[in-house]
Amino acid sequence: MSYQIKEVKTKPYDGQKPGTSGLRKRVKVFQQEHYTENFVQAIFDAVDLKGKTLVVGGDGRYFSPETVQTILKIGSANGVAKFIIGQNGILSTPAASNIIRKYKADGGILLTASHNPGGPNADFGIKYNVSNGGPAPEAVTNKIFEKTKAISSYKVIELPPVDLSQKGFTTYGPSNVEIIDSVKDYLELLENIFDFFLIKSFLQSHADSFKVLFDGMHGVTGPYGRAIFVDTLGLPESSVQNATPLPDFGGGHPDPNLTYAHELVERVEREGIHFGAASDGDGDRNMIYGKGAFVTPSDSVAIIADWAAEAIPYFKKGGIKGLARSMPTSAQIDKVAKKKGLECHVVPTGWKFFGNLMDAGRLSICGEESFGTGSDHIREKDGVWAIVAWLNILAYANKESPNKLIGIKELLEKHYTVYGRSFFSRYDYEEVSAVAAQSLVDAINVYISTGSLASTSHVSKSTGQKFTVADVSNFDYTDPIDGSVSRNQGQIILFDDGSRVVFRLSGTGSQGATVRMYVERYVPPEAGPAELNKDTQEGLKGLIEVALQISNLREFLGRDKPTVIT
Ligand code: G6P
Ligand code: ZN
Repeated sequence: MSYQIKEVKTKPYDGQKPGTSGLRKRVKVFQQEHYTENFVQAIFDAVDLKGKTLVVGGDGRYFSPETVQTILKIGSANGVAKFIIGQNGILSTPAASNIIRKYKADGGILLTASHNPGGPNADFGIKYNVSNGGPAPEAVTNKIFEKTKAISSYKVIELPPVDLSQKGFTTYGPSNVEIIDSVKDYLELLENIFDFFLIKSFLQSHADSFKVLFDGMHGVTGPYGRAIFVDTLGLPESSVQNATPLPDFGGGHPDPNLTYAHELVERVEREGIHFGAASDGDGDRNMIYGKGAFVTPSDSVAIIADWAAEAIPYFKKGGIKGLARSMPTSAQIDKVAKKKGLECHVVPTGWKFFGNLMDAGRLSICGEESFGTGSDHIREKDGVWAIVAWLNILAYANKESPNKLIGIKELLEKHYTVYGRSFFSRYDYEEVSAVAAQSLVDAINVYISTGSLASTSHVSKSTGQKFTVADVSNFDYTDPIDGSVSRNQGQIILFDDGSRVVFRLSGTGSQGATVRMYVERYVPPEAGPAELNKDTQEGLKGLIEVALQISNLREFLGRDKPTVIT
């Protein structure tokens, strides 16, 4: 078909600054005339993709199909040689990262706003990933932003839209287009990592005593979950729910935590399900929840790290090169690293900080308290990977213990008996005024600069526990690979028993400011089961009281209670 390249005049829009999670705005903002086109053209202006291969896909949220066609029109006009596109524009974020790596593409455009709600009145997002499969580093996103500020025209090829529902090869003007199965490569990836045979035989032999429930939250992971749990592992259809991706996620908030995944939590408790799990809108987050047992993400990554080299073929073969967590994540994984003699990196919040360590061969398994867990098999966190990792570990642990069924609860208790337990909880104060949030930060900075808090003791009125401050600091990070420095990544109040409280402003909120308070208290194995297996909030009660007292958080923020507790 003959084609022409057309140049369309445009003017810059303010505020098209992408973070490493991309440009996230309301759908209505993206629908403004030239808004999406400007940003897409800015990507091609910032990154030379002439003659290159580009992966395109996303979580299927509202406004995705239109945007895939926009990317085709503009990308093709800008000389992209080949597009690899998920069928119907669908690729989970981990699947896209895998496709980029597996087919040696030069980059990828991911259409997602992660766990934010979707639909005509909710959010959309465009994110650029580079050739290692990870989110574009700041140097690239800054360059894209610069281009959005100077744009005066964009290029398009006017051709009929490509039918995204038909798998196979086609051409679009001067470019080749391949529409691929959204799930196949990802399933193959997981089959090469985990012991599916072991998992399947465990599930089959415990069909009545060990039930599984996966909740796709109407996000992108439904088809992945069905392919793995139903088609491959042979579980009944009732073991997946909300597994059809919907453009508005069924009106829900596709974020797997105790608040938003309540449908899963309720069914697990009602039906006595041993293994429940959920993933977010684009499939990179996860929650593991069994009857009466919520696994904090901090514990989850520690337990995966503990068992991986024994239970999971990928690590049995390749070994574990190192472990890592984000700073606010609990130090549970540090205990595992120490026992196994592995290096354990502590990086600022944000998955991008793990990428350099992985590329340098110094990191295999890592996680964040914000429900992100993953490994060096790709360069994004991976919700379904974490869920299958848990199943693999449980299947292995049960092989070792033929007479007593080991579920999530038993596995947690076993872990605490060996390593002790870092009780961990996060309090979120959402949509507070930016000025109030800053005044809290400033006050803690005064403690840091004057040292006035050091060695002071604080007693909890309700529990009588005494906490003595050992140190107050700001977390700064120097990347051990490229030497880049990231400052002020959270304020830490450390106590002399190793307990700590961290204060940090969220980098992802869209309304006002969100203050996060992370609380952590370590209890050694010698404390015994009664102490170790306490309810989290109970285990942290005294420390939380002291943290609120010292920081005067309630007074600064004018909030008596957090909006979310995880
Ligand atoms: C995104 C990133 C995560 C990060 C989280 C922090 O989800 O992908 O890597 O942990 O944001 O969010 P926050 O709101 O705490 O800045
Ligand atoms: Zn996500």
